[in-house]
Amino acid sequence: MSFPFQIKSLQEYNTAYAKSVENPEQFWADIADTFMWRKKWDKVLEWDFKKPDIKWFINGKLNITENCLDRHLARSGDDPAIIWEPNSKDEPHKVLTYNDLHFRVNQFANVLRNNGVKKGDRICIYMGMVPELPIAMLACARIGAIHSVIFGGFSAQSIADRLQDANAEFIITCDGAYRGGKDIALKNIIDDALIACAFVKRVIVFNRTHTPVSMIKGRDVWWDEEIQIVEEQGNPVMPAEEMDAEDPLFILYTSGSTGKPKGVVHSSAGYMVYSTYSFVNVFQYQPGDVHFCTADIGWITGHTYIIYSVLCAGGTSLMYEGLPAWPDAGRLWDIVDKHKVNILYTAPTAIRSLMAYGLEPLKGKSLDTLRVLGTVGEPINEEAWHWYDEHIGKKRCPIVDTWWQTETGGIMISNLAGVTPSKPSYATLPLPGIQPVLVDEQGKVIEGNDVSGNLCIRFPWPSVIRTTYGDHERCRLNYFATYHDLYFTGDGCYRDSQGQYRITGRVDDVLNVSGHRIGTAEVENAINRHTGVLESAVVGYPHDLKGQGIYAYVILGHSPEDANYMRADINQTVTRIIGAIARPDKIQFVSGLPKTRSGKIMRRILRKIAENEMGSIGDTTTLLDPAVVEEIKAGRV
Ligand code: WTA
Repeated sequence: MSFPFQIKSLQEYNTAYAKSVENPEQFWADIADTFMWRKKWDKVLEWDFKKPDIKWFINGKLNITENCLDRHLARSGDDPAIIWEPNSKDEPHKVLTYNDLHFRVNQFANVLRNNGVKKGDRICIYMGMVPELPIAMLACARIGAIHSVIFGGFSAQSIADRLQDANAEFIITCDGAYRGGKDIALKNIIDDALIACAFVKRVIVFNRTHTPVSMIKGRDVWWDEEIQIVEEQGNPVMPAEEMDAEDPLFILYTSGSTGKPKGVVHSSAGYMVYSTYSFVNVFQYQPGDVHFCTADIGWITGHTYIIYSVLCAGGTSLMYEGLPAWPDAGRLWDIVDKHKVNILYTAPTAIRSLMAYGLEPLKGKSLDTLRVLGTVGEPINEEAWHWYDEHIGKKRCPIVDTWWQTETGGIMISNLAGVTPSKPSYATLPLPGIQPVLVDEQGKVIEGNDVSGNLCIRFPWPSVIRTTYGDHERCRLNYFATYHDLYFTGDGCYRDSQGQYRITGRVDDVLNVSGHRIGTAEVENAINRHTGVLESAVVGYPHDLKGQGIYAYVILGHSPEDANYMRADINQTVTRIIGAIARPDKIQFVSGLPKTRSGKIMRRILRKIAENEMGSIGDTTTLLDPAVVEEIKAGRV
């Protein structure tokens, strides 16, 4: 496939950017024109950030899977769509061509139909990184069902919350998942979640690990047996459902600064157009390239840059079931060589942990096929950037530092590989169509260069969040109400003297642990459910590998007999309620928390102590009980 919208020089970038600002409708219409539509749109854009009410490609009709699959069949049906590398080195890899993937998506779409799934139904997918996961997602999209993929590291309670929020009556899962040396009993976790979710009608279970599971009569069915039924029916063709441009494609839950995670809703057409546009331009994808994104499909990075954008572009996506350093620290590099990877897209936390093994695991690895490297998820420190550049890219591969969010659907600020300049630890320039602005606390726009502020976006782009599922007001309050007529990202940002952007981290109460977003309020709520706990406050602190670690200050009802035992209990509670990813790295027992006279916890002070920046705590005299700060400082863990 060729991409008429691929930017090939700095000058073309400047021209495209100028056009996208001067005439965004025409700019996006030209790009959208290159996709497959059942019916073209009547109008490109209607928007009002105040509500928010954002519509792209109005009255356009399409199905994203026809763009991901059908339109490639005639010319490149035998090209690899997905290369799957299993967890174990001893198990053979699999290649699914576009023909294969089309066939299997069609087949599984029939399974969904046979099980009563209709357009608009919400389906929760809780699977490991097996090819059946993208097949399940695409089959949902094929028939217009809305998938909600839940990362395999979330607990039963987290799943139950998400099932209830979306009122999802269907689940697709696996008996278990292989992750490095561990087998995770996914179906058992689902069974625990379902105790509180009697509304779930059907659970389809893919057999991956042969883990014993309890299959409940009338509710649970095996993937393979359902496929067999479709085969007996003669594998009928499942025509793709005609979707409106604005029909939801999927829900993906993400943490915010308050309360429970919110279900970010993405549209069908806008998400398709922007994700593909960003993929082709940022990574400078060339036909035949093997693209390897190491994210888990349970996060937005996997949704966009393992599945939808790569397949829409007719590309080859490598998906890996296991962990980067298992069974040995050279595994990721072996995979790059084995499958002749051209584009490697990973997270700073993964780079740092691989860096920690030294250069030994790189011995005998060629890495010669690599052409472009990418990072995402958190600010990349210069040391990791240079290591990636020298030892992996051998100084000949541009590194794209891609800034974006679950809510933005695709990459927003990034250099374009080899086309626009890169700068270590800078996301650099916005993609065409993206208008970043920096504002101060009062919402005043900060003009000029060499300035810092809160990062906002001024004008809609096609894959902007449309709503938070079931609670539109929450979407407005979270993203569109902080600053007038702007989308607020929650990130702090610096714009250097050349106008290049450097993301400095969250300015709200959201932590970024190993590239995973976790709300401090969520962790506090989980800790507070432990019987021994009266109150808690959670902050982040710099962590060598994870980027940020979780530091919890906890007030107990009684002093514990064994503090370490108590810590382990609290960790267990958090693991049960959210999942192991939210477990505090450090727990400090305190007798009180620094509060203002109105009772507000002064997190700034707690953050300084956790960061071991005692010198810059500042004035504490306005606190209700200034003495507590000294006690906390002395007891820092
Ligand atoms: C952070 C992941 C610095 C940021 C795609 C953002 C980054 C949050 C970068 C979104 C980057 C993501 N440099 N920070 N290149 N990319 N972030 O929703 O704080 O899981 O708001 O989406 O990750 O995380 P999310």
